[in-house]
Amino acid sequence: MANLLVTGGTGFIGANFVQYWARQYPQDRLVVLDALTYAGNLASLQSLSGNDQYRFVKGDIVDRDAIEALLREEKIDTIVHFAAESHVDRSISGPATFIDTNIVGTHSLYTGRS
Ligand SMILES: NC(=O)c1ccc[n+]([C@@H]2O[C@H](COP(=O)([O-])OP(=O)(O)OC[C@H]3O[C@@H](n4cnc5c(N)ncnc54)[C@H](O)[C@@H]3O)[C@@H](O)[C@H]2O)c1
Repeated sequence: MANLLVTGGTGFIGANFVQYWARQYPQDRLVVLDALTYAGNLASLQSLSGNDQYRFVKGDIVDRDAIEALLREEKIDTIVHFAAESHVDRSISGPATFIDTNIVGTHSLYTGRS
């Protein structure tokens, strides 16, 4: 039995992964962390509401303290990282969010584990 943290789990790839994993590995704990930006859609995981193995947390991967607390609280042993600024055309008008999420946020997840 695994305890997974899935970041970006309400996005396009993440939501499909979460649905797949819940079906294939119903014994595993699935904690989904997502900031619910313009790209996230919580309704994609509606079918999991009421499933005791599933928990949704609204949060930002850049918030290292919150990530560390969640990793400890849920005894996470596996991180599946989909949270991202993925709409590349938006990086021209607003590159800072891309650097924050894709670089700083990814680094937070990595260092938060140690
Ligand atoms: N879509 C594709 O075809 C494809 C193909 C190959 C690789 N990828 C990669 O897979 C990853 C996910 O892609 P996608 O298409 O699902 O993206 P998406 O834009 O649909 O979803 C990204 C999710 O991340 C969340 N998010 C954004 N910033 C966040 C933050 N700071 N903290 C927490 N959550 C945050 C959003 O709310 C959203 O739910 C990206 O790294 C992308 O490059 C996607």
